[in-house]
Amino acid sequence: MIVGRLAVAALAAIGALCAAFPASPESAAGGSSTVAMRSREAYSQPSPALPADRLAEFFLGRALFRQVWVIPPALDSDVDGLGPTFNRPSCVACHLKNGRGFAPEAVEDPLRAMLVRISVPGTTDKGAPLPHPAYGDQLNDAAVPGVPREGRVLVNWQYRTERFADGSTIELRKPAIEFAQLAFGPVGDDLLLSPRIGSPVFGLGLLEAVSDTALHAQAAREKPDGITGRVNLVWDESAQQKLPGRFGWKANVATLRQQVASALLGDLGITSPVLPRENCPPAQVACASAVNGGDPELNEAQLRSMVLYQQALAVPAARTADDPAAVRGRAVFMQAGCQHCHLPQLQIGTHPEHAWLSNQTIEPYTDLLLHDMGDELADGRPDFEASGRQWRTAPLWGIGLTKVISDRESYLHDGRARTLMEAIMWHGGEAQAARERVRSLSASEHADLIRFLESL
Ligand code: HEC
Ligand code: HEC
Repeated sequence: MIVGRLAVAALAAIGALCAAFPASPESAAGGSSTVAMRSREAYSQPSPALPADRLAEFFLGRALFRQVWVIPPALDSDVDGLGPTFNRPSCVACHLKNGRGFAPEAVEDPLRAMLVRISVPGTTDKGAPLPHPAYGDQLNDAAVPGVPREGRVLVNWQYRTERFADGSTIELRKPAIEFAQLAFGPVGDDLLLSPRIGSPVFGLGLLEAVSDTALHAQAAREKPDGITGRVNLVWDESAQQKLPGRFGWKANVATLRQQVASALLGDLGITSPVLPRENCPPAQVACASAVNGGDPELNEAQLRSMVLYQQALAVPAARTADDPAAVRGRAVFMQAGCQHCHLPQLQIGTHPEHAWLSNQTIEPYTDLLLHDMGDELADGRPDFEASGRQWRTAPLWGIGLTKVISDRESYLHDGRARTLMEAIMWHGGEAQAARERVRSLSASEHADLIRFLESL
């Protein structure tokens, strides 16, 4: 703990230095929750603004995020409760170094940092996607001994080539998903599915502090290129009402408390005070009768610490200003119209719990709104107010560190893009005009644009 405090003090000192030199190339991407770091640990730092008396709780949350949960019953009842069905045994498995997940390369590879959401047409009384009667709302490809896993996911890649205006080309790949070894019969022809990689999990407390009013105002604002922008409205279990969505690839979750509880239950099979019932659809008898790890398996104090951990992970500073190519690339980004969705700056409001996160300017490069991204990115699976063609503008802060943080690059909701340029060339729908401007740029303008993204 003492080491942690010293590290935070050191980071705070770096922050103070930056403030002392206004010409410093470091940005304050996350306001007072920014760290000047470009190493593999850059997504894993506590916010310098986190009060020192909350650090112990932050580190407990970190331990639980990294914990490989065990099958119940176990001697250490604090960390048992995995399953009965699950995807991976730890949070960090899909959020390596708090960064993004990835899709499997070969069809025989298991999903290691990705999951597939499933449903059938229709909605629940809360407006959520209607779970499949036998498989629920997410295919769990793992289970504890004695309980069948639901099935396996196979990812087949389909390739095609896109041409830029200068004649150069880029290869794109798109996943086609199949299920195998299904334990409870065929999924049926009307199944809706949505493959998604784990998203980066830093800076989220700041996004939680964007006010509902600001979201609605941004949605209502006039934007060029036929760009609209819609607030998702999603059921929140703790609030017992619908709230504007902020988290997930479709902004399908409103609060970090809900996000952590859903991940615990859906991805690891761990019950919590928010979602206290095991995830066993009616057909899954062995699942329903399996031993559990407590009622609920994660207690309120543990849940709070995990939520605090997500709220307090700092944002790495951008380094655009000291790289002339990145500065030129920023102008290209603006000319192409990227900033109408990837908002360079957001003024955030009062965080419901934490004054130290509140009322500052951040540089997340998102509006947190849903946009129609065209046929090629569509999953055809509505999620609350999000249509099968809409996705939340992905935040771009910290994205330039992907190569440092993760073993491989993988962008967009299903990890199909292997480079930043591939991600851009998949943009369609409301972002088609921006993509077409990029298509017509010269090779050196392309290089500058990518250098800018890499400086974030
Ligand atoms: C099997 C892989 C997997 C595991 C395990 C997993 N996640 Fe995730 N996580 C995801 C995916 C996929 C998303 C995007 C979800 C969506 O779009 O619906 C996500 C999204 C999130 C987000 C929202 C990030 C954002 O930018 O909106 C948070 C926070 C999060 N997960 C926390 C956790 C925690 C805490 C755990 C452990 C209890 C966990 N995750 C375990 C795959 C995983
Ligand atoms: C109409 C709104 C809109 C515009 C304009 C737009 N984007 Fe996006 N961008 C999105 C959305 C939505 C996603 C997430 C799509 C998905 O995951 O399927 C995204 C994803 C990305 C990603 C991948 C992020 C990640 O975490 O995987 C990059 C990189 C990106 N955009 C860059 C750009 C650039 C550069 C431009 C300008 C040429 C641009 N975008 C224009 C909405 C937009």
